[in-house]
Amino acid sequence: MKINNICCIGAGYVGGPTMSIIAQKNPDINVHVVDMNAEKIAAWNSKDLDNLPVYEPGLSKVVKEARGRNLFFSTEVNIYIEKADMIFISVNTPTKTSGEGKGYAADLKYVEACAKQIAEVSKTDKIIVEKSTVPVRTSEKIKQILRSNNSNVDFQILSNPEFLAEGTAMRDLEIPDRVLIGGDKTIKGEKAIESLVKIYSSWVPKENILTTNLWSSELSKLTANAFLAQRISSINSLSELCEETGADIEEVSKAIGMDSRIGSSFLKTSVGFGGSCFQKDILNLVYISRSLGLEKVADYWEQVLLINNHQRNRFSKKIVNCIKENNLKPRVLILGWAFKKNTNDTRESAAIYVANNLLNNNISIQIYDPKVKEEQIIFDLLNINPHFEKSLVNFAQEPFLKISDYSVIAIMTEWDEFINYDWKTVYTKIKKPAYIFDGRNILNCEVIKKIGFNYLGLGRK
Ligand code: NAD
Ligand code: UGA
Repeated sequence: MKINNICCIGAGYVGGPTMSIIAQKNPDINVHVVDMNAEKIAAWNSKDLDNLPVYEPGLSKVVKEARGRNLFFSTEVNIYIEKADMIFISVNTPTKTSGEGKGYAADLKYVEACAKQIAEVSKTDKIIVEKSTVPVRTSEKIKQILRSNNSNVDFQILSNPEFLAEGTAMRDLEIPDRVLIGGDKTIKGEKAIESLVKIYSSWVPKENILTTNLWSSELSKLTANAFLAQRISSINSLSELCEETGADIEEVSKAIGMDSRIGSSFLKTSVGFGGSCFQKDILNLVYISRSLGLEKVADYWEQVLLINNHQRNRFSKKIVNCIKENNLKPRVLILGWAFKKNTNDTRESAAIYVANNLLNNNISIQIYDPKVKEEQIIFDLLNINPHFEKSLVNFAQEPFLKISDYSVIAIMTEWDEFINYDWKTVYTKIKKPAYIFDGRNILNCEVIKKIGFNYLGLGRK
């Protein structure tokens, strides 16, 4: 089936960049990205390309090229569902906050609402693509909703999970390690798979496009994230062991990573992984395993989250203890709020948890992040504690304006500009004795110590 019109429901961190690339690489296909959030759609349509709702290096260039040609953003969800031959569901799948599976299972209410809406609106046959990360066998549920609400048209369901990482989304989309497409092993199912393969083959080599059955595709996405997160928790657990033994985590990480069977990616110790997906996807995996009576499997994966929590807490405790033991003014300058560099996304950022721990100890904080807006930071703090002490929180447009009031700096995000600061000049202005808690191990500790700072990294003496 030749695809002429694509509709993507959900103009978020995945829908926006993914559809921009599909449109750029397939100028003969009209791609309509729809969302019920009018403000977000207005921002995607904004003339000011520096203010797109998603910050990703390289994104504005692609949007500039394709928007208005064959890439469109709209709130007219029904119109573009109806027009489309292929519909991507790219909506959020957060952890459930109530009902069965609360705190663990993925909340599929947005995915299910999309399926219902598609069924109600559709008058012609359509291929429905699950782009959102979902529990294994969700495609079965989608099929059921579609078919029970509309028996007049044929719906083929595909699973095409997204593996992009924020901050490098455009590169990941342009040169993906693999594109995964799951579908039914029926004649119609195979044809649907072929249609999607054709779209990706406009720029992805055929050997990097992997086709599987629906459930393998769904489960592979969840478990790929679990594997990545598990590596971070492994190295973070070792950072504590290093602190007790005198080993240096950077040296250990390098030595482990040089084993070609292990590899060096995702072995960077940190104050804990954040982002919207690792935690929710592992919770989901734990829930699925427990539901199937696989207690040991569930416990194994849950431990990845317990270590992540522990890492954030022990980093906070180090700062609190340092302030108490050295009788310092209870003030900390927090550098970085995003969950990683090169994104404005703050979901589950370790900075939120550390800031909350500091506030709970009556420590005032000043926060600086080059890409995160003040409103977002307030939203995050309210989300974790609706009664947080507002008088303890300040924001900085420029990180070191009030540095003479501070003697403690905590680095929470690995933004390049933090590495490149003129730390010698900062030292001349900061209150002494001065402490840097490097939650990302991004600074050269020898150089920083030579300048005069007390340097406290993770897993380093
Ligand atoms: P997001 O919150 O940024 O975007 C989701 C969008 O869907 C929102 O703008 C919301 O308004 C819209 N939406 C929800 N229900 C809708 C409906 N019924 N009609 C119209 N619009 C609707 O989420 P995201 O980060 O893009 O993630 C989407 C999915 O992709 C999730 O399942 C996530 O796990 C997965 N994923 C995310 C990433 C990532 O880096 N963020 C990477 C890979 C996979
Ligand atoms: C992650 C996966 O890398 C993507 O493949 C996946 O598509 C995506 O989740 C998703 O499903 O949402 P993302 O969360 O955007 O992508 O970013 P990562 O680069 O994976 O980083 C996640 C967190 O781990 C960040 O807080 C990062 O700082 C931290 N991290 C990463 C470490 O602490 N150490 C590392 O070595 C690597």
